[in-house]
Amino acid sequence: MGIEEALPASARDKLRAELLAEDHIFIQALPKVELHVHIEGTITAELRWKFTQRNGTPLRIAANGSEIHSLKELEHAMDLLRPDPSRVNNDEERFQFFEAYYEGFACLKTKQDYFDLAMHYYENTARMNVRYAEIFFDPQGHTAKGMSWDVMMGGFREAKERAERELNVKSAWIMCFLRDLSPESAMEHYEAALPYRDIIVGIGLDSNEEDRPPVLFDEVFTRARKDGFKLTMHCDADSKNAHEHIRQCASVVAGHGLDRIDHGINAAEDQGLMNLIKERDLGMTICPWSYLRHTTFEELGPKIRTLLDVGIKVTINSDDPAYMEDCWVLHNMLLVRRLCNFSDREFLVLARNAVHACWASDAVKEGMLREIDLVQQHFMGEQ
Ligand code: HPA
Ligand code: ZN
Repeated sequence: MGIEEALPASARDKLRAELLAEDHIFIQALPKVELHVHIEGTITAELRWKFTQRNGTPLRIAANGSEIHSLKELEHAMDLLRPDPSRVNNDEERFQFFEAYYEGFACLKTKQDYFDLAMHYYENTARMNVRYAEIFFDPQGHTAKGMSWDVMMGGFREAKERAERELNVKSAWIMCFLRDLSPESAMEHYEAALPYRDIIVGIGLDSNEEDRPPVLFDEVFTRARKDGFKLTMHCDADSKNAHEHIRQCASVVAGHGLDRIDHGINAAEDQGLMNLIKERDLGMTICPWSYLRHTTFEELGPKIRTLLDVGIKVTINSDDPAYMEDCWVLHNMLLVRRLCNFSDREFLVLARNAVHACWASDAVKEGMLREIDLVQQHFMGEQ
């Protein structure tokens, strides 16, 4: 990191308000595809409080130590966990994030909870004109606390169907394996998920990436590709061995590399990696707000611009809104406009990139591209 520091939490709150105050009629109107959001990263304090009250379960979080007795107390405890460069360094920040994130899983007990969580995502993003989403879930975090697949997937499935029927939001799910757990555990979960494959379009890899290179999971990803799943993996921003992890994702795992890369922002530092990603036409799911926690404006904007300018299919997404100042896909788009000075025309490129990079059927993709054309005509009076 240079002289400038990453923004503290209070400055990020201020930035969010500033961005929303800017004219964003065009960005709001764009039909959107979201390809990188963790459903467990959308468990807000309100939802956590609602579920624990409804289920009569105690609520304790590490930052606080003692039992939490009100939504206010919960919000305060979650606030203490927000990364702040004045309090924690980069590595501590990552560790603290994962601790807070996995702790959140405990509030989900019933099919209704899973349903409500997914509906909360769909309702929120329908208001931002999200038309299609591929949503991550981390099954190992749920089975570890004894959750049944039927409860979890049943809730997701009902919400998916309702969102499509009532909100005009289509979606599919991406099952992520936790890379800090064993490849054997990933394989066991892969097999257990097969009965639900009608709503699972792809397989991903997330969690703590330190010393867990993509090739460790080659066997399960190779099998998933043979079985017809699409493949992606996280390459977290500025992680140790980031370039090597991106190279393995782009060209090694499952024979010749994956179908997309999640984050992978450090590719912008290496022309060879950018060439590889471009040759393979891999979409990249960029989540700018999440990088603000440990990088600076000065570093971030040029990297995202470089990836787009070389012709890589960059897409803009939210990652974990409940842990990121309540910033969803719209806020992330407003942030990249500020960071990279993107024009409305560049937002059309980003919107179309997400359609091309998604794993929906050709008919769904064509429908979304037509909608984007209409918005272009409406605002620019041309094709
Ligand atoms: N990186 C890795 N794992 C995650 C993330 C992330 O940004 N969010 C939720 N799980
Ligand atoms: Zn992520």
